[in-house]
Amino acid sequence: MPALVLLGAQWGDEGKGKATDLLGGSVDYVVRYQGGNNAGHTVVVGDQKYALHLLPSGILSPGCTPVIGNGVVVDPSVLLSELSGLNERGVDTSKLLISGNAHVITPYNVTVDKVTERFLGKRKIGTTGRGIGPTYADKINRVGIRVQDLYDESILTQKVEAALDVKNQILTKLYNRRAIAVDQVVEELLGYAEQIKPYVADTVLVLNQALEENKVVLFEGGQGTLLDIDHGTYPFVTSSNPTAGGACTGAGVGPTKISRVIGILKAYTTRVGAGPFPTELFDEDGEALRRIGGERGVTTGRDRRCGWFDAVIARYATRVNGLTDFFLTKLDVLTGWEQIPVCVAYEIDGKRVEELPYSQSDFHHAKPVYENLPGWSEDITKAKSFSDLPKNAQSYVKALEEMSGAPISAIGVGPGRDETIEINSFL
Ligand code: GDP
Ligand code: IMO
Ligand code: MG
Repeated sequence: MPALVLLGAQWGDEGKGKATDLLGGSVDYVVRYQGGNNAGHTVVVGDQKYALHLLPSGILSPGCTPVIGNGVVVDPSVLLSELSGLNERGVDTSKLLISGNAHVITPYNVTVDKVTERFLGKRKIGTTGRGIGPTYADKINRVGIRVQDLYDESILTQKVEAALDVKNQILTKLYNRRAIAVDQVVEELLGYAEQIKPYVADTVLVLNQALEENKVVLFEGGQGTLLDIDHGTYPFVTSSNPTAGGACTGAGVGPTKISRVIGILKAYTTRVGAGPFPTELFDEDGEALRRIGGERGVTTGRDRRCGWFDAVIARYATRVNGLTDFFLTKLDVLTGWEQIPVCVAYEIDGKRVEELPYSQSDFHHAKPVYENLPGWSEDITKAKSFSDLPKNAQSYVKALEEMSGAPISAIGVGPGRDETIEINSFL
């Protein structure tokens, strides 16, 4: 019963879409377990490029059943437009399964997300504005709308009423906005219900039965470890658990079923939105990483903040996720630097610190301690095996592996499926 979790080991955008797609041909199910359409996962197949937000990247592999688990938040309008966009490009989406327990991102959740950010001013999180935080807040406050509620008009109306009761007070009295009408929201949501119905299923049962039948299930994380609501750089995080445990709660599969946890790790670091980032660069090296790496957000089009590799963070990701492997991506982007600095520890108030500090204030003050590793200038995008890499690129990978605490089992040398060096098989 191989069940693999594939997740971001940094602040998101590590290349999870590509890695998932690479394995998609050999797995039976690909499951999103948290987050929503705040994600932007790029998959390049031949000369075709796909940007997936809500749908699991496995949807592009014909033999694979894509699943949206109970832990995901679903914006029905985004779901339907993503499906029709793929259908227009000839992708068969009929196998998709959506948990009836997944929560629905309603139009008022999107409004609240945007208004809250505006009112936070300088202290804003820099969210994607997709309603993610407010939808999870409603879930925890027990005033959320679930996918199954779309099929009972009376229940749906009562729930929307309950949710808007307080929100309309806040919107009108605090934020000076117009109140949102219950019947308009209900009408809009009911308008999506029939189109979504064929996909709604008891995904917990389906996945557990699949595992009993020795099917291969891959859990595809959105966001990344440092954006986790519990283990990330709170409050500059998303509102779900991208870390490995999130796969169990977000899909209804017990931890004893998980056989492998793969951390997707960029050969340098990026971050979108606000929050601490010790190795962030503000010079021409940062600009070059952004340009060569194409570091622009898939969801919001914002420029990504760029910096050198941070081994402290990688070690932390190994620990909180129990990583068994790393998939190192975008090594090709580092070609051409004479020396590549790697952050091996932090200096906080004059003291060397080897592990991520638990205190937010300490992390805000952390200065990177760098070790310079020798670079390479040869093109590596055609490399098929580890030995094809120039000596210095091999040493860079080995150094990162040693510092990060788990074996690097694959290396990305380009965005395409075949631009990958496989070292240890994942299946
Ligand atoms: P995700 O959110 O983790 O799926 O990552 P994104 O899709 O947001 O960002 C990763 C970007 O890097 C995408 O444009 C990918 O096509 C690209 N990419 C993934 N792996 C590699 C790689 O090994 N080399 C290069 N040059 N690009 C890659
Ligand atoms: P993928 O899956 C990078 C960031 C936002 C913001 C914070 C909270 O493509 O790696 P939210 O809208 O979730 O409430 O925003 O999290 N963020 C991401 N950053 N990659 C992502 O997804 C992200 N999803 C959310 O920029 O800082
Ligand atoms: Mg992304």
